[in-house]
Amino acid sequence: MKKIKNAEISIKNIGEEVELYGWVFKSRNLGGLIFIDLRDRSGIIQLVFDPDFKEYEQASNLKSEYVIQIKGIVRKRETINPNLKTGEVEVFVHELTLLNKSKEIPFLLTEDTTALEDTRLKYRYLDLRRKSLSDKLIVRHKIMMTARKYFDQNDFIEVETPILCKSTPEGARDYLVPSRINKGSFYALPQSPQIFKQLLMIGGVEKYFQIAKCFRDEDLRADRQPEFTQIDMEMSFVDEEDIMQITEGLLQAIFKEVKNIDLSLPLMKMKYDDAIRDYGSDKPDLRFGMKIHDLTDIFQDTEFVVFKNVILNHGVINCLVVENQADRYSRKDLDHLTEYVKNYKAKGLAYLKIGEEITGSIAKVIQEKEIKALKEKLNLKNNDLVLIVADSYKITKTALGALRLKLGNDLDLISKEEYKLLWVTDFPSFEYSEEEQRYVSCHHPFTMPKDEDVDKLLTDKAHCYSKAYDLVINGYEAGGGSIRIHDEKVQEKMFQALELTEEQVNEKFGFFVEALKYGSPPHGGLAFGLDRLTMLLTNTDNIKDVIAFPKTSSASDLMSECPSRVDKSQLEELSLDIKEK
Ligand code: AMO
Repeated sequence: MKKIKNAEISIKNIGEEVELYGWVFKSRNLGGLIFIDLRDRSGIIQLVFDPDFKEYEQASNLKSEYVIQIKGIVRKRETINPNLKTGEVEVFVHELTLLNKSKEIPFLLTEDTTALEDTRLKYRYLDLRRKSLSDKLIVRHKIMMTARKYFDQNDFIEVETPILCKSTPEGARDYLVPSRINKGSFYALPQSPQIFKQLLMIGGVEKYFQIAKCFRDEDLRADRQPEFTQIDMEMSFVDEEDIMQITEGLLQAIFKEVKNIDLSLPLMKMKYDDAIRDYGSDKPDLRFGMKIHDLTDIFQDTEFVVFKNVILNHGVINCLVVENQADRYSRKDLDHLTEYVKNYKAKGLAYLKIGEEITGSIAKVIQEKEIKALKEKLNLKNNDLVLIVADSYKITKTALGALRLKLGNDLDLISKEEYKLLWVTDFPSFEYSEEEQRYVSCHHPFTMPKDEDVDKLLTDKAHCYSKAYDLVINGYEAGGGSIRIHDEKVQEKMFQALELTEEQVNEKFGFFVEALKYGSPPHGGLAFGLDRLTMLLTNTDNIKDVIAFPKTSSASDLMSECPSRVDKSQLEELSLDIKEK
């Protein structure tokens, strides 16, 4: 059995005989001496074979990714390699066994590989040999182990919930699995264990957690996969503060274990409405400032017709201030920024450059008193750039929120080493879906409204808030949860508010409504996206980097070529026909 980790050999081992295993990473023949970088999961050690070595011929034929076993003596290197952990030593080999050969590899397994992502995904098992990827898997493992230990110490039990289940209504499309035995019927893969963890609370489990696989058939992005993992938890007899406290303890343990960072608790809290007002996002990145300012008051009696119309239509005029950078932005740059905000439905982007003289797209159409008020309110200085959007509240906030992030990146205002964590609380219960022309749940239909808003569920949906919270890290939604409705009357009201008929409720989750009638305890919980947490702690913005075998953005696995067609006989067994277009 392999006992030694290559990267752990050091000057302490000089003179010792070692038995090592691994892959040939690089091989060089320098004037008869053969140098091989031997790689295992821990890292690289240099091997040396001299021309008198009995199997010199075999050593000189070793190629990239051949698998070998050697015995040799650790000695000091003549020239130290400061880039390698083992750079002070090498192993002088006296025994070599070739364990396996390798085909010529399709791409170099170096850290700076230029191989296309598709090639790397097709040969994922080779890509995983690269340290930057295997290190991320190790971080993921550490997060899972820390979570399991933490929950166990806090009296939670890990309970597995079904993978083949009835669909839980969480907003995304379900992955369906046809049933062979019950022809024409389907299972859904769980979008999350939401209903089951609530049923566990009704079942008296009190403190549950699970590292759970979730499946959502939604459009993929850099931080979304169709199959992902949650660190999921639920507790009975708690309020929002309790869940936050337990979750913060978990984060503290994870940050300490993985990054040796001491998180200072409690974490900051920001109400959803304030996050949207100040940052144009429900997941604000607080690693830099540049808040959104409201200028609507200043332009109350503007003569500028665009602003005037916006105010008449109950819209708002908001801005961002880019400090001391006005000279950096040419007309063309500002046109680009205008195009950028148009992606977010804003009709345009007005700007002012502050100097002796005020210039910019609206400099000629605003009044002296407005300029004075702007300077005062925004504390404007020479060379500041003011970027203004005037539109409906939602469009203005969304567009400026996105522009803020773009500027933060473009101007290098975001410190990559820093972590800014916060709770976003008091989410609205509903959001209006233009597509469905009705109010839908902001989280899910089991989220408890704020006590004072229960009575508004049917009469004033736009102003109902819920006991829901998200944990945001560096602009990512790392986790989210809520206190649940445990009272069947409130749950009924919520279904009514969502315009679900009794029939629909019964068909979709009658079993759950029934369960609520049998002494459901007050309960609540939260789920972290394990993949997102790992991304944040390994400083990558590509979710594929933290999943051993990820899917592409078109939800396929290039290595095994899945999804794939199945045999006709399999389809027949399931009574399924494929309709060819
Ligand atoms: P939610 O839908 O907010 O809540 O999911 C919880 C966390 O899971 C992560 N996440 C994803 N990660 C990768 N790919 C995806 N497609 C994806 N979708 C979500 C996010 C998110 O914050 N049952 C509730 C939790 C609860 O209320 O307890 C739920 O699933 O990091």
